[in-house]
Amino acid sequence: MYKAKVVGAGSYAPETVLTNRDLEKVVDTSDAWITRRTGIKERRIATGGMVTSEMAARAARQALEKSGVEAGDLDLVVVGTVTPDRQFPSCACLLQEKIGARKAASMDVSAGCSGFIYALSVANNAIRCGDAEHALVVGAEVLSGVTNWSDRGTCVLLGDGAGAVVLSRTDEDTGIKAVNLRSDGSFGHLLYSVDKQCELPTLDIVPGVGEQRPFYLVMDGKPLFKKAVECLEEITRWTLDKAQVKVEELALMVPHQANIRIINALAQRLGLAEEKVYTTIERYGNTSSASIPIALAEAVNAGRLCPRDKLLMVTFGAGLTWGASLVEWSI
Ligand SMILES: CC(C)(COP(=O)(O)OP(=O)(O)OC[C@H]1O[C@@H](n2cnc3c(N)ncnc32)[C@H](O)[C@@H]1OP(=O)(O)O)[C@@H](O)C(=O)NCCC(=O)NCCS
Repeated sequence: MYKAKVVGAGSYAPETVLTNRDLEKVVDTSDAWITRRTGIKERRIATGGMVTSEMAARAARQALEKSGVEAGDLDLVVVGTVTPDRQFPSCACLLQEKIGARKAASMDVSAGCSGFIYALSVANNAIRCGDAEHALVVGAEVLSGVTNWSDRGTCVLLGDGAGAVVLSRTDEDTGIKAVNLRSDGSFGHLLYSVDKQCELPTLDIVPGVGEQRPFYLVMDGKPLFKKAVECLEEITRWTLDKAQVKVEELALMVPHQANIRIINALAQRLGLAEEKVYTTIERYGNTSSASIPIALAEAVNAGRLCPRDKLLMVTFGAGLTWGASLVEWSI
């Protein structure tokens, strides 16, 4: 059986920055509360009609350029997103057209904040079984367009962005060593969309945001927090076991960026040193499916991964869904 390895990573974050201080003008909150309870200082907001597929295309072009793979050589494009431009065509098909991935099969995966790891699993399996030689895996979201800007329990957490990786087939004993996925629909009530047109405020300080809201997001933060820590630990241990890697052998963990306290609790339970955990939450907030590939691309650019390093990516999100991947880095 073949293996898949990551050959390039890229990311895109919109230019408009929304700080905690800006949010003090929107809801009854404070920079001190948001920083202490979440670790977030600012987040990026898509403006001027920027859609998910366009951010995905910008991240994808960067990943393709780094990988040396041509868009026309991609066999598969998989996008994890809960905020596609429209119900159909899929965001992946819109992206395929934008980057010119003419011979690819393209699909979206809906798995809440776990979308990127779920998409990675699809692409990994396609390569392993020989159906694909090169695949593009993307996480991209415009969460600002589905945020209830009057709910201080959620609006301070979310941001927009996109990240992408290119996977290629390899015969070497390296690359993706394990991908594990789980879900439990009985906890769906903790984080869900209200799918109807409703009278909610727009984000007046950034013109245009929230004007067309296909749905809005509702979250019960406290129980979700507890569940997140439990599930992240469980899937991490399972994935390390499957890949036969010990915690102390990890070079880097790139977790989903939902709350710095969740990330710290996970690292503490695993006994993983703080310097081995890569975080971007202070600058981007929670960008759902995009958070891991954005952080990964930045970690690679910052020289945080060397060939043979063991990388763990782990996530948790609406569904509930959760998942993890252990990768032996090879570029
Ligand atoms: C949302 C979250 C940050 C809230 O933090 P918390 O410490 O659990 O806070 P609580 O919900 O218990 O609220 C504590 C108090 O802060 C208040 N509060 C909530 N949001 C606030 C805000 N933005 N600013 C100021 N106060 C706020 C609450 O109203 C509550 O006040 P009360 O004690 O007077 O009732 C946290 O629960 C969380 O991160 N949950 C998981 C989120 C997650 O993982 N989501 C995505 C999964 S992909």
